[in-house]
Amino acid sequence: MSLITISTQFIRQTFPYIRKRLLFTYIIVMTIILGTAETVLYFFLLHVLHQQLDHELLTLVEVAAPSLDTVEIIGIESFEHNLSWRSFFSQEQQSLEWYSADGSLLAKEGNLAVDLPLSLNPVKEEPNFPLFQQDANIRAVTISVYESNLDNTNSVLKGYIRASESTLNIQSTFNKLRLGLGLGGTTALLLVSISSIYLTQEAVKPIRQMFLHLGQFTSDISHQLRTPLTRISMATEIMLTHKDSIQPADARKLTIINSATEQMKRLIEDMLFLLRSDTFPNSTMLGRKKIPLNQLLQDVIGDFEPLFQAQGIKFQARLASNTLIKGDSCHLHRLFTNILDNSISYASRGDTVHLYVEKYKRKIIICIQDTGMGIASEDLPHIFHCFWRAEIAKQKRKDSFGLGLTIAQAVAKQHGGNIFVTSKIGSGSLFKIVLPIA
Ligand SMILES: Nc1ncnc2c1ncn2[C@@H]1O[C@H](COP(=O)(O)OP(=O)(O)OP(=O)(O)O)[C@@H](O)[C@H]1O
Ligand SMILES: [Mg+2]
Repeated sequence: MSLITISTQFIRQTFPYIRKRLLFTYIIVMTIILGTAETVLYFFLLHVLHQQLDHELLTLVEVAAPSLDTVEIIGIESFEHNLSWRSFFSQEQQSLEWYSADGSLLAKEGNLAVDLPLSLNPVKEEPNFPLFQQDANIRAVTISVYESNLDNTNSVLKGYIRASESTLNIQSTFNKLRLGLGLGGTTALLLVSISSIYLTQEAVKPIRQMFLHLGQFTSDISHQLRTPLTRISMATEIMLTHKDSIQPADARKLTIINSATEQMKRLIEDMLFLLRSDTFPNSTMLGRKKIPLNQLLQDVIGDFEPLFQAQGIKFQARLASNTLIKGDSCHLHRLFTNILDNSISYASRGDTVHLYVEKYKRKIIICIQDTGMGIASEDLPHIFHCFWRAEIAKQKRKDSFGLGLTIAQAVAKQHGGNIFVTSKIGSGSLFKIVLPIA
């Protein structure tokens, strides 16, 4: 495949695909990074706040532990004397409960209603071992209080102290945190998406530039080749017009040189056309004149009728009421020429070619149907590719390049349309050229 084809196809098809892929991958990666960072932050803060609450409650029960004796002896009157735990205690948010060794409640301080049963299990075994409890809205910690002997053996259980605190404050803090993280995450993602459009554009710019230069370079070379080729072809044509002054063998060689030169000129013309259509991929860049379709089709048919007659192929045309289409008449002329040229090339004597026009909503459909050799279903996806030709077509016509349909489709797309094909090998083909009505 030539440099021209590579650069043309790369710019037209691959670049938007690379940009989309880059954009998509970047957004996915950033979403994963942001999501993970937010989740880690959320669980870290949740852990820190719960640890802080546990620490507060533990301090409170430890400070309140010495008061169990006096509470057991004189009851709640002792609260007036035992002030040490008060500076750690919040009347509204917390509750402090004193229990005897058999687990019965001796006294309670604080407005918080606690429904949790006293859990004694591990507390019994080890002095000051904290047991944490949690229900929907309350966090509690219980420690067992022992009276130890002087030698610290056979200590006797005196009772339990439990401190509780509402977790509603933490929950409301976390609701706000979740909202904040959600809003922050969404804003960050939005900014990431916007910036990624710019970033991917910047990332592919130098590569795109490089391919455009390559395209320009090949276009310049093709252009430069045209002049010497034209000179060769003119020189051979002049020589051939004076056949009597040259040997018959030389005349044959000159004919070969002339036809090869013409072939190369045609190839260069086609490649230049494709390069230009790649530079102006949509119709906004074209001269957008309103063109009467019937007039245009009649011109093309006028060129082809003698060829059909010469090849013994029946040709029928049925044009609809005149319709205007917007675009470039030279390019559209080329489109219809390329399709009709194929219907002649790949049909045989006695076959029929039928051209008819249909309207559908705001579209005009130009149908070109032939009863020629047809296209195998596995070949249909390739027929618009540059330089692709079916094996059977190569045998039937040797001097072609496989660019006709590529050009035809580029022109249809430039005009906001497309070409659809149905075909059956051995039975013929139907090409439908769909174009918007002006
Ligand atoms: N009407 C048709 N009937 C059968 N095969 C077709 C027809 N039109 C196109 N094809 C197949 O599609 C291939 C590509 O067509 P295309 O017009 O692009 O190239 P080409 O005719 O081989 O060469 P070029 O048009 O450059 O002279 C052809 O080689 C042929 O195999
Ligand atoms: Mg062709």
